[in-house]
Amino acid sequence: MQKGEHAVLYGERGVGKTSLANMIPFLFDTEDIRVVKITCSKSDDFRSIWKRTLQNLKLQINKPAMGFGAASGKIEITLNELLNNDRKIIPGAIMTLSALLDYKTVFIFDEYDRIVNQRVKHQFADLIKDMSDNNDNLTLVIVGIGTNVNELIGDHPSIERCLKQVLMPKMSDEEIEDIISKGLKKLNMIITDNVKQLIKSYSTGFPHYTHLITKYSAKTSLQNENLTISQNHFVHAMEEILENINQSIKDAYHKAIVTSKKTSKFENVV
Ligand SMILES: Nc1ncnc2c1ncn2[C@@H]1O[C@H](COP(=O)(O)OP(=O)(O)OP(=O)(O)O)[C@@H](O)[C@H]1O
Ligand SMILES: [Mg+2]
Repeated sequence: MQKGEHAVLYGERGVGKTSLANMIPFLFDTEDIRVVKITCSKSDDFRSIWKRTLQNLKLQINKPAMGFGAASGKIEITLNELLNNDRKIIPGAIMTLSALLDYKTVFIFDEYDRIVNQRVKHQFADLIKDMSDNNDNLTLVIVGIGTNVNELIGDHPSIERCLKQVLMPKMSDEEIEDIISKGLKKLNMIITDNVKQLIKSYSTGFPHYTHLITKYSAKTSLQNENLTISQNHFVHAMEEILENINQSIKDAYHKAIVTSKKTSKFENVV
């Protein structure tokens, strides 16, 4: 990435965005580059996100000598402690605080799609523009679900130029096969080619399904005291998975009915 450039990593649900983002600290976390990763939630606003973020960033300041003969020295505080108690934090305040850092910092905001308040996305856009123009030491990486960048970050043409857009694609058949092979190798198990093909096609490029089906198939196989996963094990595993999915739909239905008001027509709608 170039100076003043920030990044947005987007893609379908469950393709592996968070897993990739989790690797970033291993690439960059050295003495002079710090990586802070924050997971956003539905209830977050600009202030709550940045309070959590700044809590991770430390600053050394001179401690004044208090009283006669007392020694002065350095103390460590977090940037969060320098925030005022106002309800509002503006992007400019984040710029001022982060300018105090004497190391480069990469901020990763994962599950950014969960932020519902569009105002927060405006504030992030303003901040990205400001950082890009004025502070080369700070890099933001926004990660979340979206079929395109605007769906994730909102429509902000002013920041398009300073954003590196990275689409996380679904996994290829080879990558899915690799997950199956590596997982089974650890268990000292093998799988018939036929079942491998089935798992690949049922995964449809989503590693979550690969893990799920392979795990259940391996479990069934082991329950039958067999180290080779066969089609029977696969079929049994699929039945078990579908039964569990049914249960979670039933649970969600029950929760929706119980938590809705008695007089509502919610049950009929659901
Ligand atoms: N490279 C990989 N190798 C093996 N498994 C992976 C890989 N990437 C992701 N996975 C697995 O796939 C599943 C989904 O991954 P992850 O949570 O990273 O996806 P996501 O795109 O962040 O999902 P969401 O859209 O729900 O936030 C997890 O179980 C994860 O362990
Ligand atoms: Mg994720």
